[in-house]
Amino acid sequence: MDGTGGGTGDGPDGGPRGITWITGAGSGIGRALAIHLAKAGARVALSARGVDDLTAAIRQVPDRMHMVPLDVTDRSATAATVAAIESGLGPIDRAVLNAGTHIPMSLEDFSADSARRLMEVNYMGVVHGLEALLPRMRARGHGRVAVVASVAGYRGLPTAAAYGPTKAALINLCESLKPDCDRAGIRLQLVCPGFVDTPLTARNPFPMPDLMPVEDAARELADGLDSDRFEITFPRRFTRKLKLARCLPYRLYFPLLRKATGA
Ligand SMILES: NC(=O)c1ccc[n+]([C@@H]2O[C@H](COP(=O)([O-])OP(=O)(O)OC[C@H]3O[C@@H](n4cnc5c(N)ncnc54)[C@H](OP(=O)(O)O)[C@@H]3O)[C@@H](O)[C@H]2O)c1
Repeated sequence: MDGTGGGTGDGPDGGPRGITWITGAGSGIGRALAIHLAKAGARVALSARGVDDLTAAIRQVPDRMHMVPLDVTDRSATAATVAAIESGLGPIDRAVLNAGTHIPMSLEDFSADSARRLMEVNYMGVVHGLEALLPRMRARGHGRVAVVASVAGYRGLPTAAAYGPTKAALINLCESLKPDCDRAGIRLQLVCPGFVDTPLTARNPFPMPDLMPVEDAARELADGLDSDRFEITFPRRFTRKLKLARCLPYRLYFPLLRKATGA
């Protein structure tokens, strides 16, 4: 674990303020959120696999950011990371399980390898984080966890045959767990972004409607984390349309999809 800092003495009971843990914080949304929260005074532990990216990120607010390299597909490493953060820096009172990646897949390149890889990172990566965090938060009787899914989990979309199911699974997972978490004093939130300008979407070969600058996305996400909304979505103009599409019967959905995407 790298970085400096310690209790700021401004936590809920006058003790040290707890830690925010963000996975996938080496680039894109996770990195921008970590910087935004640290600039606002939070102590943030940043995880990703790439140490160079994490080093560059924590340079932005070095006294409040801590580097904790992790591959979220490694279940025991995730448990050890959470234990190390809590013993070294203090209780994690807020976690944003954001690590994820994308492999386009359609009929021509259909592959169990791509489907399995994305499930391992996007879905099991979150499950590993929850497994490590929830018993600790349950024992404390409080905590906040946000899971980053996607509007791609609302309905099937072209080229998202591997990615979409991982995000649909996360949405269902959060819906399933929310009532239990409520009873345990844990605030579970679901984050469903539309298109945000990050290294992930820079690879997309198609025009992305309402593409949002990553700093704006981080600000929207941070506001959502401070709210008691279950679902946090942005950019709203786009996510509202996707929400409506979610309700359409197939006989209307597929023609509309064809019109919108050419698929
Ligand atoms: N950008 C969008 O438009 C958009 C829309 C909807 C949802 N999302 C979701 O938002 C999240 C962040 O996406 P982004 O656009 O910010 O992507 P990004 O810029 O590619 O960032 C992804 C982050 O996840 C980390 N990561 C990938 N695999 C990992 C693993 N096995 N273990 C630990 N960390 C890992 C990456 O670092 P390393 O490679 O160094 O590990 C990186 O820090 C993802 O879950 C994505 O599905 C994004």
